[in-house]
Amino acid sequence: MEFLGSHILSIDQFDRDDVHTVFRVADEMEPYAQRRRRTRVLEGTVLANLFFEPSTRTRISFGAAFSRLGGHTLETTGFQFSSMAKGESLYDTARVVAGYVDVLVMRHPVEGGVGEFAEATHVPVINGGDGPGEHPTQALLDLYTIRKELGRGVDELGGTRVAMVGDLKHGRTVHSLTKLLSLCDPLDLVFVAPDELQMPEGLVERALSHGHSVRQTESLPDGVADADVIYTTRVQQERFTALEDADKFRGSYSINNAVYEKFCKPGAILLHPLPRDSRPGARELDEDLNQRRELAIFRQTDNGIPVRMALFALVLGVQDRVHDTAEDVGWFVPPRVGIHDVV
Ligand code: NCD
Repeated sequence: MEFLGSHILSIDQFDRDDVHTVFRVADEMEPYAQRRRRTRVLEGTVLANLFFEPSTRTRISFGAAFSRLGGHTLETTGFQFSSMAKGESLYDTARVVAGYVDVLVMRHPVEGGVGEFAEATHVPVINGGDGPGEHPTQALLDLYTIRKELGRGVDELGGTRVAMVGDLKHGRTVHSLTKLLSLCDPLDLVFVAPDELQMPEGLVERALSHGHSVRQTESLPDGVADADVIYTTRVQQERFTALEDADKFRGSYSINNAVYEKFCKPGAILLHPLPRDSRPGARELDEDLNQRRELAIFRQTDNGIPVRMALFALVLGVQDRVHDTAEDVGWFVPPRVGIHDVV
């Protein structure tokens, strides 16, 4: 794909070479993401971060990634604080904001909402999650994490068993991740969910048509057996019409230390797009796993920075000039020593 000036709306836009490009640039961003070096390559640029659904890490990591490139971020969160609450259309909002900034990130509760917004502007728009649709940058950072954790390149993942667990029907992260993994050499994909929350048929077919093996099961012990990567998800309660319907499924798949030791392959890495639901009765990944090296969730969130920096650099065409303004940072940065650290 042509990155320069493009919207990033869906994993459908990517082929394997594009993934290599993003990861090559992301690797170069690591010293900046880890605050060992600083760059001002995007000094003078402005990002609008428009989040119309709850978010902590996606919104902050887009803003931090942009700031680490030297750009400035403006934000709005929640419909109630935007002019959409006064009846303004997505089109008008998009056109107006495009006049103010160089790039936009948007999260919207409706599938296709970010795409509709992007149609009204030539300023690049990055999808930060559109309802149950897609979350392409999350999938890129997930695959970046898998590659780093397993120590195998994107071209060397063939035969890896990846289990996705939980609300696969509504989870946009697993939708984008399934599309992205479909670009790899044949994998063993296992979709672990109650029948009502299984992966949409179209995505199962897409994986099969790319030569992957796909198994669907309701059983956690069966689903995680021999998996190299276990990607768990939260029940997406905001996508259900009634909260009681979501409650029915909450806690169906809780992994704690005992479950891990009994059913998971030793060394299997545990991922989650986060937030994990830490309420009693949910706990997709129990806090008693926190001391396990295999719990990669915080290294996964850290990886959001270099990957999002890479996307901004590519879309704005500065990927070859990042190092020109580079220098060592002059402020306190804590040493990295814990199991959840980047390195
Ligand atoms: C996810 C999302 O918003 O889709 N979070 C994230 O962006 N990392 C997953 C979720 O909310 O469960």
